[in-house]
Amino acid sequence: MFHAAVLTVSDRSFRGERPDEGGPLVAGLLREAGFAVVKTAVVPDEQSLIETALREIADTGEVQLLVTTGGTGFAPRDVTPEATLAVCQRMVPGIPETMRYASLQITPRAMLSRAQAGIRGSTLIINLPGSPKAAKENIEAVLPALGHGLEMLSGRPTDCAKTE
Ligand code: MTE
Repeated sequence: MFHAAVLTVSDRSFRGERPDEGGPLVAGLLREAGFAVVKTAVVPDEQSLIETALREIADTGEVQLLVTTGGTGFAPRDVTPEATLAVCQRMVPGIPETMRYASLQITPRAMLSRAQAGIRGSTLIINLPGSPKAAKENIEAVLPALGHGLEMLSGRPTDCAKTE
């Protein structure tokens, strides 16, 4: 079983002005998909603090998947993608490409998410938008292929020719 963490990025949720709905929703979807969600946290939209949280969670080696929700749009304080780019050693463009492709079938606003995905050490980091609806639609678009990717990342022998 793979272990996952969910990091909510939101000034208002961090200050306690708005309940964090996206984080628990994403955690529930990951559990339904077979992940053990071992860590959840909320940080404000501050690049240095997001980077610190991403590094700390990834570098424990305890989670193979780290999903963020929030801060991917155009608002001046939306900097989750920049923090993700700063901490990842290898980017995985196909994941946000797939999320935007799937989401564009639902809303043209999907193109406004600047979400990134990348690898830090042995952890895959995926950005999701902040609204619970958008976060759900985006993670559901990529869940079917994540297990295979995480198996490769963990160094297990995998068979790319075998389709799920
Ligand atoms: N993707 C899906 N599937 N559904 C949505 O409703 N909303 C978009 C986009 N992606 C949306 C979506 C909107 S309106 C924005 S501004 C961006 O995600 C970024 O959201 P964020 O700033 O909350 O991260």
